[in-house]
Amino acid sequence: MMLERLLLFGFLFYLLSITNCQFNKDDLTKLQALECNEPFVTLHVFSGAPNPAWQINIKQLVKIKKIAHQSLYQNNSDTLYSKSTTRIMGYHGFTVSCSSNKLVFVHGLSTVEHLLLLSGRRYLSESVIGHVKEHIGEIMTDITPMKSNHADCNQVPIVGPDTVPVYDPKSDDQGCFIKKQSDNNCYAYGTDIVTNTFPQPGRGSGRKWSLNTCLDMGNASVRDGLIYNGTKLPQVPPSVGHFAALLIWPDTNFHWIRMDANGYWSHKPGGTPVRNEDNRGLPITDPSKSDFSPWTQFCAYFIAQPSKLRIQ
Ligand SMILES: *[C@@H]1O[C@H](CO)[C@@H](O)[C@H](O)[C@H]1NC(C)=O
Ligand SMILES: *[C@@H]1O[C@H](CO)[C@@H](O)[C@H](O)[C@H]1NC(C)=O
Ligand SMILES: *[C@@H]1O[C@H](CO)[C@@H](O)[C@H](O)[C@H]1NC(C)=O
Repeated sequence: MMLERLLLFGFLFYLLSITNCQFNKDDLTKLQALECNEPFVTLHVFSGAPNPAWQINIKQLVKIKKIAHQSLYQNNSDTLYSKSTTRIMGYHGFTVSCSSNKLVFVHGLSTVEHLLLLSGRRYLSESVIGHVKEHIGEIMTDITPMKSNHADCNQVPIVGPDTVPVYDPKSDDQGCFIKKQSDNNCYAYGTDIVTNTFPQPGRGSGRKWSLNTCLDMGNASVRDGLIYNGTKLPQVPPSVGHFAALLIWPDTNFHWIRMDANGYWSHKPGGTPVRNEDNRGLPITDPSKSDFSPWTQFCAYFIAQPSKLRIQ
């Protein structure tokens, strides 16, 4: 029943998608927001008969999100990394969906298209696989992990994407939170910008913070371009940028924790390594409840859109 409705919707979506073009940042944001244990993949290849559809598991979805992110942000730029795939009769792309109103269309990102095709190989005939393969184009082989070896971490600022960051210190901002670990602190990591200056709230916009209080630090961060988002734990990523939480060690120091694409939070205390656990070694699902002592006072959530921030 569910599958039938999905197929029908998929077909309508396919008609809509004829005007759609390459997989872009908006599609990535939508993809990252997809959360379910058994997403459906539909291959848009037939024009008359229902398109083939199958289910993948959550691990496959996580991998697809990761590869999509890496492929799109290979060079920290807005340009697509992947070779454009041609729209041809018969093959139009894939949709990945969790429910009939949450669909992401994937076309023009060959790394992800290959992955999706692979996930359905048991359900597809040789001729369909061959046909699609022929039109997806070559996989670009050197995706991020290799690339980050060549990263020049001195070319700052290295600004993360305006989509939700993926938790992966090795590739995040070209791996520079690792290579320049002691020059980047919680504010750099929380905003997803490598500055190599141990940045301070307010400094980039002209007036550094003066008191270690939630209000003073919060205002300094807002001057830098962060958007105050109140104290209620966010459940889904913002439409642009990512969430960051501010905490205070009263009268002494500040700390930032950021929300990643997997829904968990991560942080980088001062010059120490990036981590995705609190003091008790637990994954962070609610920064106001985790143990970050001595940063014991939870202040608020903010939205960080890296391209719009002035962080120094
Ligand atoms: C990434 O940037 C480098 C240097 O600017 C350029 O030579 C290379 O072709 C770019 N790679 C991609 C995949 O855009
Ligand atoms: C900024 O300061 C004002 C006045 O002290 C305060 O009302 C406001 O909550 C502060 N903003 C943030 C984001 O902390
Ligand atoms: C926080 O951000 C979310 C997503 O953008 C928005 O819906 C919500 O209204 C914001 N809350 C506050 C208090 O600004």
